[in-house]
Amino acid sequence: MTDIHCHVLPFVDYDGPQDTEESMRMLECAFREGIGCVIATPHVTSGDSRGRLDEFRETFANLRQSALEQNLPIDLRLGAEVYVSPDLCDFVKEAPVSLDGAGRYVLVELPMYEFPPFVQSQLFSLISENIVPILAHPERNSNVIRNPEVLFSLSKAGVLFQLNAGSLVGSFGREVKKTAETLLTSGLCQFVASDAHGDRARGFRMKEARSTVRRLVGESLAEAIFEDNPRRTVVEGSCSWTEGDA
Ligand SMILES: [Fe+2]
Repeated sequence: MTDIHCHVLPFVDYDGPQDTEESMRMLECAFREGIGCVIATPHVTSGDSRGRLDEFRETFANLRQSALEQNLPIDLRLGAEVYVSPDLCDFVKEAPVSLDGAGRYVLVELPMYEFPPFVQSQLFSLISENIVPILAHPERNSNVIRNPEVLFSLSKAGVLFQLNAGSLVGSFGREVKKTAETLLTSGLCQFVASDAHGDRARGFRMKEARSTVRRLVGESLAEAIFEDNPRRTVVEGSCSWTEGDA
C-alpha cells in the first residue's frame, strides 16, 4: 500500500512525532501494516516561508537517511498537507508542496467546523492551473457531515477525495464513520490514507480500513483505493486513477 497522508516527520507538527525515534517507530508500524511507500505530509499554510519549507526538506532528508541506515524497506517521499486559504492557489503554484514532487497533485486540508465560500473557488482555480486537489478527510468536516452532497460539485469539477483510515474504523466517532461510509459508497473516495500522527494514539489502521472498504464496496475498488490510485497518481505521476464509483 501507499500512504499519501502521514505526519511522520519529527519536530515539525505540534501534534506529530516529537523526535526521530518516534518517527522511526511509526515507519516500522507502517511496514508491519503492509505499507511500502509513505508520503510525509507536514502541515503547511500559505503563510509559511520558504525557509520553513526548506527546514522540512532537511528534516525529511535526515529521516530518510535514518530509515536507510536501519534497512527499513519503505519508500519515503516528501509532500505536504496544505491548509485551505483565500490565497491557496497562488501559494501552491509557487511552493514545492505537491504530493508527487512534480506540482500536479496537492493535498488540501479543510477547516473542521466550516466550509468557507473560498474553498470552492480556490479548488477550481487549482484545477484551471492543471493542479489536481485531493481533499484530505472531508468526512471530518461538520458541514460535510450534515450535507455530504456539498462534495458532488467539487467531484464533478475534478477534485479527488482522501478518507482517513481511522474514520472508517470508528476512531473519530459514529457520525464521522457514517459520513465516511456514505462518501465511499457514493463514489466520493479515491484514496484512503492513515493521517497518522504517532506510533500509538493516532496510528495507521490501514489494514483494518481496507477490510472495511472491501466489505462495503468490494475487492477491486479496495485495491484501486489502497494500491492503484495512490501509486499511479502520486508515485508514478500518471493521471489514470480509477474512479471511486461503487
Ligand atoms: Fe493530516
